[in-house]
Amino acid sequence: MRILVTGGAGFIGSNCIRFLLQSHPEDSVVNFDKLTYAGNLENLADVADDPRYSFLRGDICDESAVEQAVGAVDAVVNFAAETHVDRSIQHAAAFIDTDIKGLYVLLEAARAKGIERFVHISTDEVYGSIEKGSFKETDPLNPSSPYSASKAGGELMAKSFERTFGYKIMITRGSNTYGPYQYPEKVVPLFITNALDDLPLPLYGDGLNVRDWLYVEDHCSGIDAVLRKGRPGEAYNLGADQERTNLELTKRILALTGKGEDLIKRVTDRPGHDRRYSVDSAKARSLGWRPQVAFEEGLARTVAWYRENEAWWRKIKDGSYREYYRQMYGNR
Ligand code: NAD
Ligand code: DAU
Repeated sequence: MRILVTGGAGFIGSNCIRFLLQSHPEDSVVNFDKLTYAGNLENLADVADDPRYSFLRGDICDESAVEQAVGAVDAVVNFAAETHVDRSIQHAAAFIDTDIKGLYVLLEAARAKGIERFVHISTDEVYGSIEKGSFKETDPLNPSSPYSASKAGGELMAKSFERTFGYKIMITRGSNTYGPYQYPEKVVPLFITNALDDLPLPLYGDGLNVRDWLYVEDHCSGIDAVLRKGRPGEAYNLGADQERTNLELTKRILALTGKGEDLIKRVTDRPGHDRRYSVDSAKARSLGWRPQVAFEEGLARTVAWYRENEAWWRKIKDGSYREYYRQMYGNR
């Protein structure tokens, strides 16, 4: 297959491109990415010279660029998105553009070309919070943040293409993902890199919100299973069954970095903060997918990666990130 991966210079996209090239020697990948603050071609330095890999800089909202890119492939996997909940609370416009309009532009181009395998990467956040039990794919979408509302809006647009035009895609709804190359605004890399620098770890609210932690390679293998074996028109939850409170996560990061709990700084909660995410992944498991990496193992690997790749994250944290950090955490 020739696969168009959009948003491939980000965290999960770059790990997934590596995964696809390693697992499927017959496949080739075109990475189409706008290179926003979150896109970084250094994430793909090790595959840049692979003849099966190429890069195209572009915006998924740009109709003619997207038409051209889609014209040259057999399948599409869309990772391109604005992804950070806290940024969506500050300013949601880019989320609405990329996560709704961008998907619409991709759908139009893929429908016109008759692309049969299109996987859109969505999120477990579209269901909203759940106190007990786990969401199934048939549960209603009930998003809480401008980010998750934009992701849900994209999904509804895709559903409308199925009902109106008979054009069917596959959707994955993955849980909180962590591992190498994650931009240090998300809690895991933020807390690891702050701990390594003896800086405070800003824990929101009472620290008892629960997330289900999926190691990035397991997320990639889930997406790959859906790309090859999923049924068009279907959504697939991808959860790890590794639920932890944020406080448990924070304490483990401190233990792995050899730092004390005095670094924990309780800060004002995130507005609309979802208490718990949990999805039932039985449907994806019926495709033969199983997450392989337990939380303790995955987190140890991740801490080791950030220790060994200090130059990668220091370059990010020394740039415009400083202003972001001041705005987000300065008076918190
Ligand atoms: P990321 O923020 O690390 O990367 C996003 C990438 O998309 C960047 O390379 C960026 O340059 C690119 N991009 C943004 N706007 C674009 C546009 N208009 N056109 C082209 N490229 C654009 O994101 P991530 O954490 O790797 O998430 C990837 C996908 O997975 C997203 O759709 C996200 O909603 C979903 N997801 C993420 C998680 C998680 O925990 N990180 C969990 C479940 C689902
Ligand atoms: O569930 C999947 C989603 O996971 C993805 O769709 C999103 O793209 C991704 O960003 C992530 O969303 P979260 O909001 O759950 O991730 P984040 O890393 O921002 O926060 C995880 C938890 O940690 C959440 O309960 C808020 C808390 N937190 C976060 C930050 C950044 C803190 O306590 N302090 C912080 O500084």
